[in-house]
Amino acid sequence: MSTDAQIAVDDYLVATLVDEDDALVSAREAAAETTMPGAAVAPNQGKLLAMLAAAIGAHRVLELGTLAGYSTIWLARAVGPGGRVVTLEVSEQNASVARRNLDHAGVGDVVDIMLGPAAESAQRLIDTGQEPFDLVFIDADKPSNATYLRAALELTRPGSLIVLDNVVRSGRIADAASAEEPDVRGVHEALALAASDPRLDGTALQTVGSKGWDGFALFRRVA
Ligand code: DHB
Ligand code: MG
Repeated sequence: MSTDAQIAVDDYLVATLVDEDDALVSAREAAAETTMPGAAVAPNQGKLLAMLAAAIGAHRVLELGTLAGYSTIWLARAVGPGGRVVTLEVSEQNASVARRNLDHAGVGDVVDIMLGPAAESAQRLIDTGQEPFDLVFIDADKPSNATYLRAALELTRPGSLIVLDNVVRSGRIADAASAEEPDVRGVHEALALAASDPRLDGTALQTVGSKGWDGFALFRRVA
């Protein structure tokens, strides 16, 4: 939960700095038609993803967890001419909502939606020897975070950026009583893996506001 004041700050920041066109607004509102209303990134977070992609000149982006395609639109608009976004979604319902939103946003031909469990789709990308991705956004089922981070390491190159959403979970990641919860374990495993892998340098930030108390981790491939 976030306080009313924290939500008011998010509203102010978004109103001041983040322009959403009709397509982004309708993609955000289409969350209600997905299996997980309320899980999409907030507008200021979507813009942060787009800015990170633009800052590193990303042309190839991989997203795990499409939902209604809200973050996908931000990323697809950031990859520039000739860029690609591959997004992995387990639910046929979500994928069809996302397809509609991506087409409406004018990025339908930039984005490939791979339907199926993200771990299987990621393995298919590894097995087919894709060009490395410049940015990977991991935002799918939290218990599989470490699996997804391992896959991201196979699918990136030195210099790539990996963003992991939802690493705070209302503070449960630092509460011993929650340590055995599957999503908390998923965060602990992924962060431990990142900390022990010399190919990754990383940090993480807490966030409050319209999505409650959560956070994201950022990893850069240094080797
Ligand atoms: C949930 C999942 C998300 O990816 C998110 O950003 C917020 C919430 C969830 O599982 O409820
Ligand atoms: Mg998320």
